[in-house]
Amino acid sequence: MHKAMPEKGREGDEVLAQLESFKAHDPSFKEGRVWSLVYYLNEKHSEFTKNAYHSYASENGLNPGAFKSLKKLENEIIGATATILNGTEEVCGVVTSGGTESCLMAVKTYRDMARKTRGVKKPEMILPTTAHVAWFKASEYFSVKVRLVPLTSGFTPDLKKLRKLINRNTVMILGSAPEYPHGCIDPIEQMGEIAEKKGIPLHVDACVGGFILPFLEMNGEELPPWDYRVPGVTSISADIHKYGYAAKGASTITYRNLDILRYQMFVYENWPGGVFASPALLGTRPGGGYAAAWSMLQYFGQEGYQQLAADTIAAVNGLKAGIASIADLEVIGNPIGPLFSFRSTDPDVSIYAVGDQMDARGWQVNRNQFPEGLHAMVTAQHLQVVDQYIADLRESVEVVRANPELAQQGGAATYGMLAHVPLRGVVRKKVLEMFSEQYRAGGGELDMSSGASVSDGNGEGLLDRIVSWYVTRQQKKGR
Ligand SMILES: Cc1ncc(COP(=O)(O)O)c(C=O)c1O
Repeated sequence: MHKAMPEKGREGDEVLAQLESFKAHDPSFKEGRVWSLVYYLNEKHSEFTKNAYHSYASENGLNPGAFKSLKKLENEIIGATATILNGTEEVCGVVTSGGTESCLMAVKTYRDMARKTRGVKKPEMILPTTAHVAWFKASEYFSVKVRLVPLTSGFTPDLKKLRKLINRNTVMILGSAPEYPHGCIDPIEQMGEIAEKKGIPLHVDACVGGFILPFLEMNGEELPPWDYRVPGVTSISADIHKYGYAAKGASTITYRNLDILRYQMFVYENWPGGVFASPALLGTRPGGGYAAAWSMLQYFGQEGYQQLAADTIAAVNGLKAGIASIADLEVIGNPIGPLFSFRSTDPDVSIYAVGDQMDARGWQVNRNQFPEGLHAMVTAQHLQVVDQYIADLRESVEVVRANPELAQQGGAATYGMLAHVPLRGVVRKKVLEMFSEQYRAGGGELDMSSGASVSDGNGEGLLDRIVSWYVTRQQKKGR
């Protein structure tokens, strides 16, 4: 049965109190226990963000001619972004609702540019296997075929193989700074050389890195070149709602010049509602998101962001050193910046079982696959929990080493099984079926807390269901 709205309106305070109460079972990010999804610093910052967002909650950026204040905010956000990305005066762009929108827009832009300038009818794009899922989503949405570049043993794209994938249908190449799964920065300088020589656009996905790597460099860290200083780089996505610490709903997509950005635009001149032009995916564009993003740049300024970057990297270094001091754990690849993942080098120590132990100690840790690992998206706030995290991690490894059967139980069994199901197409179909169930009228019955953690004690989750379906299927087949 659908739950209808109340017949009569309720007191605002009562509604707000109820909203707060709904949070009771959400992850407790304010204590630094969550390692992705949120970029929380403290209550003062949180209040400021809220107020900034609220001050423009009604304004709409749909038509830049209507709310000129919003266009001014957008201009200034893009100008500040182009500056930290070392762009020339020609670099221009659009504020979007998030990293995914920025990535989607780049694919649409380069598909349409190749169509118009080179007559490409069967567009393809070259992605390292570590490209964020947003790029695979863009492939489906915009019918641009993915050509995957495998990784070297150092977890960066194999450039020899990349070269071989380029053909006359290639509309763009992607590099990340850094990529999400392991936090490595792709070799953008070399990728830029290849792209320039072949006359193909190179987009840098700096959704994660855009608002932290520049400040790390200002702090004196040596980083490989990855921004507009690399001549082959034609566009960059950089999120303000990640390491810019803005409210959710703020990213940027910038291009080397307006000749490229033009292909992102949409115009329809015959609509009975009037002539329509739009710079990105959304129709209504939330003023609050712009206001909070602009305000954050003013609130922290360059020095504030340098300090946040310094605190973040101090936390990252503390965590990496702690992990190195635990036997049989190692950081994967050579991550630079705020993200990294780590794995077990001892087959008797299941890293997923270690993850379960960490969950049981109140941490919310994401799991990687191919290779199996645990993931950390570190913020400045995590500096205060480094010692506790490492102490718990050490203890978790010891527990798993002493009880190897834990690898066959709980979340470890689920994740381990999912990573090893050979028929990936079947997994995909089943996930789609079960995921869609949550959108059945009435909201479905599924407990999605298992998307992040399978051992939450709130009943069977999505991943568990997929695994039990798979196990039953295999049993029926007599295997
Ligand atoms: C490298 C990278 N690109 C794109 C995205 C997508 O960003 P969003 O979640 O804001 O859509 C993410 C998200 O984590 C990311 O890590």
